[in-house]
Amino acid sequence: MTNILVTGGLGYIGSHTVVELQKEGFDVVIIDDLSNSEAFVLDRISQITGIAPDFHQFDLKDKQKTAQFFQENKIDGIIHFAASKAVGESMEKPLMYYRNNIVGLLNLLEAAKENQVDNFIFSSSCTVYGQADKLPIDESAPIKKAESSYGKTKQMGEEILEDFSAAFDKKVIALRYFNPIGAHESALIGELPKGVPNNLIPFVTQTAAGIRECLSVFGDDYPTRDGTAIRDYIYVVDLAQAHVKGLKRLISGENTSNYEIFNLGTGTGSTVLEVVNAFEAANNVKLNFKIVGRRAGDITAAYADNSKAENELGWKPETPLEYALKTAWEWQKTL
Ligand code: WQD
Repeated sequence: MTNILVTGGLGYIGSHTVVELQKEGFDVVIIDDLSNSEAFVLDRISQITGIAPDFHQFDLKDKQKTAQFFQENKIDGIIHFAASKAVGESMEKPLMYYRNNIVGLLNLLEAAKENQVDNFIFSSSCTVYGQADKLPIDESAPIKKAESSYGKTKQMGEEILEDFSAAFDKKVIALRYFNPIGAHESALIGELPKGVPNNLIPFVTQTAAGIRECLSVFGDDYPTRDGTAIRDYIYVVDLAQAHVKGLKRLISGENTSNYEIFNLGTGTGSTVLEVVNAFEAANNVKLNFKIVGRRAGDITAAYADNSKAENELGWKPETPLEYALKTAWEWQKTL
């Protein structure tokens, strides 16, 4: 059997990816320190697939525990999600972000090298593009200086992996996500933001649920069709399936170079107001929102040219925005 390590496998995108890996017949091992996830997610994964992933709770910043894990577990491939990911928090705690996201990655790579693990999928982000000059954004778009420490850790992570793949002849794919949204159709797993949500969709669903008083729309003076900012909202299960396709590409040796990058988005941009309207229509609810000033660091528009992932990974995200927003609401109602 093929044993796949998923770090951060009890988190939002990680847990959806574990489900898709198990459906494809992979044996999955999870490392998660539960710093931004909940232990009950493990049982929920088992409820969905009928298979309980092997789970090890420790922090990748612990070099000794990380090395010991690889000595005790045969691993054929790694999908690395475990990282801190809140843009705003990273500006208040940059050193925590560098330590967690970079030291954790380095410990993982050193152990992978020591134990001949050749296949590595990295969770990256479209944030590395900043405000791209040309839309839609393809993988050749220039990397711009990140606005946040979080974004810088993703850029550094990619550079570290490019050198790792070259120096030690390892196969690496970096997946640059646009905006992941939604939850599994079972409503057993989904996004679990801690505290006040930074991201749009959890704030929308919590407002609809009455947990938040009112959604603030950050700015309606952008140069867009309705003045609100544009993003590419990708359904989390479509995103998870792209990870399985990337892993199979590496394991079967179909990769055309040791370090490959793919943009994972739908290719369609939606404004904040379009998302609000789609949410209300899809779920037959009324959302309480108000327009406020722009949020510092936000860009006007980002949406993907996903043709490379489509052509080379054979991946086609087909889930409509409205369906993804329905799953987000169904999940919120279980919380
Ligand atoms: C989306 C749009 C906001 C909240 C960031 C990171 C990215 C990834 C996803 C981690 C923007 C607007 C939001 C609200 C609003 N992070 N908004 N009111 O900023 O595109 O991407 O999160 O993996 O790397 O950069 O996502 O969901 O925060 O914002 O109006 O209460 O919604 O201004 O236009 P973002 P977001």
